[in-house]
Amino acid sequence: MTELALHILDIANNSTRANATEIKISVVADSREDLLTISVADNGCGMSEELLARVTDPFATTRTTRKVGLGIPLFKQAAESTGGALTITSKVGVGTTTTATFTLSHIDRVPMGDLTATMTTLIGGAPETDFVLHYEVDGRAYEFDTSPVREIMEGIPLSEPEVLGYIGEMIAENIENINGGIII
Ligand SMILES: Nc1ncnc2c1ncn2[C@@H]1O[C@H](COP(=O)(O)OP(=O)(O)O)[C@@H](O)[C@H]1O
Ligand SMILES: [Mg+2]
Repeated sequence: MTELALHILDIANNSTRANATEIKISVVADSREDLLTISVADNGCGMSEELLARVTDPFATTRTTRKVGLGIPLFKQAAESTGGALTITSKVGVGTTTTATFTLSHIDRVPMGDLTATMTTLIGGAPETDFVLHYEVDGRAYEFDTSPVREIMEGIPLSEPEVLGYIGEMIAENIENINGGIII
C-alpha cells in the first residue's frame, strides 16, 4: 500500500468488524529516536490464542467472502521492511491492540498519506462507534475524540456529510499544526 493511512483504515476496519464500541488510533513520530509508532486499540471481540498465532500469516482469516486475509500481513511487511516490527495483543471478550513500529527516515518507509480521510471514512462507516485519534510529532500532540463532537451535534449522526466535513477540517488543521512543516 502506498499510504500508512490506508493500512490504518484496514486495521481499524478489523476493529469495527469485531464490534468494538471504542477504537483508539495512535500515531507517534519521534525524529530524534527516528521512530514512528502506529497503534490501533479496540474493545472488540478479541482473538483466540490460536487465531492470534495465525493472524500474521496471509492464509489466516475468519471471513467467508475472501479466503486470504491480507490486512495484518501487509502492515507487518510494511513495518519490517523499515527495520520495525508488528505486535498484536488480544484477549477474547476484552479487545485487541495492534502496534507497528517503523524507522521514520528509512527509504522504504511508506508515507503517512491522508490520515484525515481515514478518520472520516471510519467515522462515516461507524458513526455510533467512539473513535479517538492521538497524533504526536516530536512531543507536540493533538487528540481528537468523537464523544464531545457527538454531544455538540445533539443527535445528528456523525455520518452526515456536513458533520463529517466539519470533523475532517478540524482533524486536517490540527494535524498540519502538529506537523509544523514536517511531512510524515
Ligand atoms: N481487531 C480485531 N479484533 C478481532 N479479530 C481481529 C482483529 N483484527 C483482525 N482480526 C482477525 O484476524 C483476521 C485477519 O485480519 P486481516 O489480516 O486484516 O485480514 P481480513 O480483514 O481480510 O480478514 C480477521 O479476519 C479477524 O478474524
Ligand atoms: Mg482486515
